[in-house]
Amino acid sequence: MTLLNRQRRLEGMNAPALQASLLTKHYGSTRALDGVSLEIAPGTSTAIMGASGSGKTTLLHVLAGILLPDSGTVAFEGTSISSVGDRERSRLRRDQFGFVFQQGLLMPELTAIENVALALMLQGRSKNESVAPAAHALATLGLAGLEDRRIGELSGGQAQRVAIARAQVTGARVVFADEPTGALDSTTSSEVMDALLASTVAQGRTLVMVTHDATVAARCQRVISVRDGRIVADSLTHAPQPQQTSLTARVQNGVAQ
Ligand SMILES: Nc1ncnc2c1ncn2[C@@H]1O[C@H](COP(=O)(O)OP(=O)(O)O)[C@@H](O)[C@H]1O
Ligand SMILES: [Mg+2]
Repeated sequence: MTLLNRQRRLEGMNAPALQASLLTKHYGSTRALDGVSLEIAPGTSTAIMGASGSGKTTLLHVLAGILLPDSGTVAFEGTSISSVGDRERSRLRRDQFGFVFQQGLLMPELTAIENVALALMLQGRSKNESVAPAAHALATLGLAGLEDRRIGELSGGQAQRVAIARAQVTGARVVFADEPTGALDSTTSSEVMDALLASTVAQGRTLVMVTHDATVAARCQRVISVRDGRIVADSLTHAPQPQQTSLTARVQNGVAQ
């Protein structure tokens, strides 16, 4: 590691996980983000709430470097991600960020284990090196025995747990989730939130999620409300963080069930 990288790394340890400053983003004449600034502390859970069309997904995508803002900056652990090139930003997304979306990111033609292993193979590991950690990640999320099912052969909640396994198997520092429980009933939503919190905040990772479900949002430590591309409320909740559930213990101890 060069001295400069080492210096950056040391600085990053004290920096917010994410720091956004005066973000704006337009689609044609639609103003999707209108001057958003926020800091997200490492190892915390944050829910972004708001009506449909309020700019939640745009904000999540800009924070994750999927979209570039028209103006403003985003830094991850103290290093700007808005001013680096496309390749560097792609590498950052692949190595430091994990993604759980309502649907669509899993490959339906692949099995559960192939979907999780793929995230590691995209980082340059061989298939052989990827299968064991992928199986382990699935097991910690209570999916042992379902490794060879295709995504379409799983329930909605099981598929979301595969997505969570994939988002955390790479060692991502920040997991971004967009309506991860949007297609699930309330019991399954609660189970998916257990899994999401156990594999992020309980491991020292940062969770940033979009949801329109107040019950789901209340599981996070902080709730940010967005309207017309602006933050209109930002409050801490009393969510118990995160309890040592049997799932948390399993993820932490790496014990397959
Ligand atoms: N790719 C796009 N092209 C044009 N308009 C878009 C696009 N994505 C989002 N928008 C518009 O930007 C605004 C914010 O959208 P979005 O961030 O998806 O909101 P939310 O996730 O809160 O529903 C909306 O008015 C939406 O119609
Ligand atoms: Mg959205």
